[in-house]
Amino acid sequence: MSEEGIEKFVRPDLKSFGGYAASKAPETLKGKISVPVEKIIKLDANENPYGCSPKVKKALAEYNGIHIYPDSWQQELRRHLQDYTGVPMEHIVASAGSDQLIDLLMRLFVSKGDEVINCIPTFAMFQFFINLADGTTVNVQRDENFMVDVKALKKAITPRTKLILLATPNNPTATIMPRDDILEVLDIGLPTLVDEAYYEFTGETMAPLVGKYKNLMVLRTFSKWAGLAGLRIGYGMFPVEIASYLLRIKEPYCVNVAAQLAAIESVKDKDYLMEKVNIISLERDKMYALLEQTGWLKPYPSKANFILCALLKGKAKEIQQKLEEMGILVRYFDTPLLKDSLRISVGKPEENKVLIQALNKIGEAL
Ligand SMILES: Cc1ncc(COP(=O)(O)O)c(C=O)c1O
Repeated sequence: MSEEGIEKFVRPDLKSFGGYAASKAPETLKGKISVPVEKIIKLDANENPYGCSPKVKKALAEYNGIHIYPDSWQQELRRHLQDYTGVPMEHIVASAGSDQLIDLLMRLFVSKGDEVINCIPTFAMFQFFINLADGTTVNVQRDENFMVDVKALKKAITPRTKLILLATPNNPTATIMPRDDILEVLDIGLPTLVDEAYYEFTGETMAPLVGKYKNLMVLRTFSKWAGLAGLRIGYGMFPVEIASYLLRIKEPYCVNVAAQLAAIESVKDKDYLMEKVNIISLERDKMYALLEQTGWLKPYPSKANFILCALLKGKAKEIQQKLEEMGILVRYFDTPLLKDSLRISVGKPEENKVLIQALNKIGEAL
């Protein structure tokens, strides 16, 4: 059968599926830029520049159960997550990155033509998974400060609305959604996901209300605060009935043994990790001031481990390219709702210093 022949069997709605513009792996730049791979400063995916806890490394090095499937019920991990979150384990489900739970929630709630409320601009994987589920996205545009327009959100609800997606802090804008606004959305009564990927940087959470609000679902990850992005481990807190569905529909071994072990060791070593979170937060505030001082970047306030900047001069794509040539990776946006903007993750002090020097140099020529 020719390739064209087999393509006609592909789901028609996926023929135009664009995929996700994922962050660049530094090794793919080998030979393309003059900076050696090990010197590349990676500030494009909100990862943790300090890496994981040393206890995670030790536990992984000593682990001898790689030939055995993981516990598909994630009992030990969920018990530790119960201690960490204060939410009983019947409410908790872990996944291969929190991305996977977004996917599972779409599969659980959304059939073809069902509507999902997405408050744009926001985390691009929301749209990705709505499309993958063949759902219909109902976009609710954020206001000029990137706050969720709750009034507009309410107006966008129809009998086909199955899910409301909220991220706080929102990626890429870093906007925090006020608690009262979240409560107002919860009062609508529809399934509502509050994505708290950056919770450890803000300390603000809806987790204590899980179970009390029958429609509240809270998502978390180990990718940011715990430095486990490469191992893929996230979790969510759900009404018990929803957690039970998710445990049944997930791929049984979706969280591998290394990821389960690493997450457990991370919560056991949370004081060490939170020290690093504090260092990153202090660095972020310094970086904010320095970005503002450039005179051509307008940073937006952030309590997360990244800062979004609007460009007052120049083109975001060109600046991103120039930085890449200098061995510094950042993310750029140039869409109708996010015109000429850069999202910069907070690195180690010495990395941030190089970034600011590079931006100042670029700025001189603008
Ligand atoms: C808001 C938000 N949610 C979810 C994720 C996905 O995290 P994970 O690595 O756990 O899949 C990210 C990662 O950037 C994010 O910014």
